[in-house]
Amino acid sequence: MCGIVGYIGARAATPIVLHGLKQLEYRGYDSAGMAILDTDGNLQIRREEGKLANLERLVDAEPVNGSVAIGHTRWATHGPPSQRNAHPHRSPDGNIVVVQNGIVENFLELRNRLQGQGYEFASDTDTEVIVHLIHQHYHNGSNADLTLAVRRAVGELQGPSAIVVFDKAHPDRLIAARLGNAGGVVVGYGDDEMYIASDIPAILQHTRRVAFMENRQMAVITQQGAQFMDIEGQPLTLKEMEIDWDAESAEKGDFEHYMQKEIYEQGRSLTDTLRGRLNFAQNRIELDTLNLKPDVAQALEKVTIVACGTSYFAGLVGKFFIEQLARVSVEVDYASEYRYRQPLVSARQMVVAITQSGETVDTLAALEEARNGGAFTAAIVNAIGSQAARVCDGHIYMHAGPEIGVASTKAFTASLVDLLLLAIYLGQERGTLPAAEAAHLLHELSRLPGLAGELLEDARSGHLYQQLAERFHIYHNFLYLGRGINYPIALEGALKLKEISYIHAEGYPAGEMKHGPIALIDEEMPTVVVALKDRVYDKMISQVEQVKARKGLVLAVANADDQYIQSKADFIMPVPAVHEMISPILAVMPLQILAYEMACRRGEDVDQPRNLAKSVTVE
Ligand code: AGP
Repeated sequence: MCGIVGYIGARAATPIVLHGLKQLEYRGYDSAGMAILDTDGNLQIRREEGKLANLERLVDAEPVNGSVAIGHTRWATHGPPSQRNAHPHRSPDGNIVVVQNGIVENFLELRNRLQGQGYEFASDTDTEVIVHLIHQHYHNGSNADLTLAVRRAVGELQGPSAIVVFDKAHPDRLIAARLGNAGGVVVGYGDDEMYIASDIPAILQHTRRVAFMENRQMAVITQQGAQFMDIEGQPLTLKEMEIDWDAESAEKGDFEHYMQKEIYEQGRSLTDTLRGRLNFAQNRIELDTLNLKPDVAQALEKVTIVACGTSYFAGLVGKFFIEQLARVSVEVDYASEYRYRQPLVSARQMVVAITQSGETVDTLAALEEARNGGAFTAAIVNAIGSQAARVCDGHIYMHAGPEIGVASTKAFTASLVDLLLLAIYLGQERGTLPAAEAAHLLHELSRLPGLAGELLEDARSGHLYQQLAERFHIYHNFLYLGRGINYPIALEGALKLKEISYIHAEGYPAGEMKHGPIALIDEEMPTVVVALKDRVYDKMISQVEQVKARKGLVLAVANADDQYIQSKADFIMPVPAVHEMISPILAVMPLQILAYEMACRRGEDVDQPRNLAKSVTVE
């Protein structure tokens, strides 16, 4: 996915757009560019391959001043990262420019048609067909009505797209349009100035008053405000919302990377996701935005969890929570698989999407499947006002604050807590969770933020993880093993390592070792195990011994008070002993820190790993 920022007002647009793009760089960083109407009325473009810093250097070298501008930071879909493929793209007469997030699925057909009508293409991108289509409609049949031309052009596009258009002949407006699930489009309201962006952090410094555009909606944005309509031209009114994030939480503070900040602020994010949801007086969970009626909860025959990546691994933990506490069958599926396998869905099912961004195209498509099948749909989601939060019957906000690092950390632990809250809620509604056990879990949850804070503080003030990174950053392969409720934590730990350090790592259920993976073990293949003193502890200890017997090195996430494992494993990453249901939420933290330190020791780009983007809004 890509990042879009636009500004129209009386102030200098260049610094506003560049700062906004900086806040969105996590969405894609293959190239960046901006178009600005300069003070002489000329439409100037600046574009560079690579990171935003390259564009900033270009703008420093070739400054341009004006008060209307649009900018873009790209994650390449069609056409390799290059200056010529960087947005904005321009019409043949140079008057109209477009930036886009998403994908034009019918771009080849459109490109061939336009080329046959004499249009020449200066790039390999799908985006360029959009600006030529607008140009064509503008000059043929729209009587130079820009809004109509954009509407007609967008009407020809297939696939998810969010675009912002500027025309030199209409310097008083920006036009935005959203098709499908192409990542957010946020309109920001200033004082006699307006903003448009893909995500809130880009404009949070300037305004907290926003409106979220949805599928098949358009906006004509002038300095004074915005007029909304649907693609058919029918006027619309969009609800204006107040964002309560503080700007600081979107900045790095005294941390070196966003990921580091987001790992170490999990004590706070866990506090925020719990806030207002533990009702000790009535010994119950409060989930008012879930909108799940008791009779629907009681009639549930199945819960399906759909998600991608790290969020999928959270779902695997959620299966344990919900099946144990609510005694209802849970299926966890990759959203990208669920959406195409014609799933059996019914009104007696609840489909839960876990998604930090709320914009992951596969997860949104899976929700569409579930909704069409009549299921009750819910989202466990972090991004306020995102598509997933809006299309579901109910939602549970993670309240983890903006997660900028591409590798998800605090959103993962927040989603685990929210899944546990959901499981307790369902258990109580369905009468499968005794009051005493519920009270115990509420108490354990109330202790969690403090325990997390202590664990993280010990890790940050010590040198254990830097020492492990110093020792292990040179290895090329790792095996991660877990069992029971912490098996998904092994999967997540492996994903963290591979996605930011580029070291190959595979997560596996420990019980499967004898069925193949143990053949891999030797001194060149370290094994990370999650071996807490729970119901499968003895099994994990025997796995550790089997690895050691084959000269494998073992790094163990283990309880700090566990003396026995100290004699078995080579290295210990300590966590406090807690209720089994709470243990995964803490057990993942050492693996987050290990991955972070390994990536740093290897000099990799922790916040913007190669080939990745924070939210995958195209297939
Ligand atoms: C997590 O570290 C990855 N960046 C990725 O797997 C992510 O979890 C996945 O793309 C799902 O994103 P979502 O939670 O925003 O839907």
